[in-house]
Amino acid sequence: MRRAKITGTGMYVPDRVVTNADLTQFMDTSDEWIVQRSGIRERRWIEPGQAPSDLARAACQQALEAASLEVSDVDCILLATLSSEHDFPGTSFFLHEKLGAGEIPCLDLRAQCSGFLYALSFADALVVSGKYRRVLVVGCEVHSTGLDISTRGRDVAVLFGDGAGAVVVEANDDPEDPSGLLELRLHAQGRHADKLWIEAPSSASSPVRLTHEMIDDGRVFPKMEGRFVFKHAVRRMPEVLHEALSAASIKLDDVGLFLFHQANLRINEFVANQLGIPPDKLFNNIERYGNCSAASIPMLLAECARNGRLQPGQIVCLTAFGSGFTWASAVVRW
Ligand code: UT7
Repeated sequence: MRRAKITGTGMYVPDRVVTNADLTQFMDTSDEWIVQRSGIRERRWIEPGQAPSDLARAACQQALEAASLEVSDVDCILLATLSSEHDFPGTSFFLHEKLGAGEIPCLDLRAQCSGFLYALSFADALVVSGKYRRVLVVGCEVHSTGLDISTRGRDVAVLFGDGAGAVVVEANDDPEDPSGLLELRLHAQGRHADKLWIEAPSSASSPVRLTHEMIDDGRVFPKMEGRFVFKHAVRRMPEVLHEALSAASIKLDDVGLFLFHQANLRINEFVANQLGIPPDKLFNNIERYGNCSAASIPMLLAECARNGRLQPGQIVCLTAFGSGFTWASAVVRW
């Protein structure tokens, strides 16, 4: 039976490091508060002139190189983001041009912090069905240009960073090679859409999508009911993780590495504790990059591929929760 397999990973973050101390220039906050509540010590912000598609291009080029492929070998590009370069067309089209992707199809997926796992799931379906042999799956975010970095927006602004991660998903037809995506489980609950969202601009706002008042009221910045989101995250992540493992007939103890979306170190430690996951099986990088939404999981994969944490044959479990609400989990044999 054909499986879809990740054959290359890549990531890119801008050079500009913004520490917690740097943020105190703009807002009333402290390194102590940010580290204690979220585990974040620094994040990356783009420099003027850099676009989301530039970050995505660098991540994709690394992933293609790791898979020993050229962009001309790819059949389709799926890009997950919540911070689109423009309202339309999607960021994937700007990436498409920068990669020189000819005339292959591309599209943006909007499932926020679970977006990469949603995109991976669709890539899996496209490959397993035989529609495509190779799909480039990208998570890419530039949050820094959309944050309220005054004290008014400090609860959200300190959490987010810019970055991109990418993987190549290829068909694996080798009966001797058991590696590949074993299970992907996706969920959503639109009821809580406004618990973590950006209200404006909105095409539901008549007669115009954006007014001076919306800007003055800060409705163009992300808003979150932090505690409400936290409570749902720590319930849904274990739930969907168990669901995916059980569908793949894999025991929790047989998982070699757990990679969770990087929203908050406390969420990940809480979930790991709840499930009895030993600390050495959990890898986080939120301390260095903050929350990069759809880019977080492919960035973790790229770092783990490079630091030797991902070994052939190892079972890896990827789990995310985010705005929408969305939550998802994937079980992968590396
Ligand atoms: O990626 C998508 C999914 N996202 C998540 O899962 C995030 C879920 N939520 C969280 O991670 C946490 O709720 C936060 C890290 C966002 C906040 O932590 P918290 O412990 O829930 O803090 P809080 O929002 O209840 O705020 C506690 C206090 C408040 O002051 P008072 O009302 O107690 O006087 C805030 O005004 O901390 C204050 N505060 C800050 N102080 C210094 C909020 N933001 C800051 C800040 N610096 N940046």
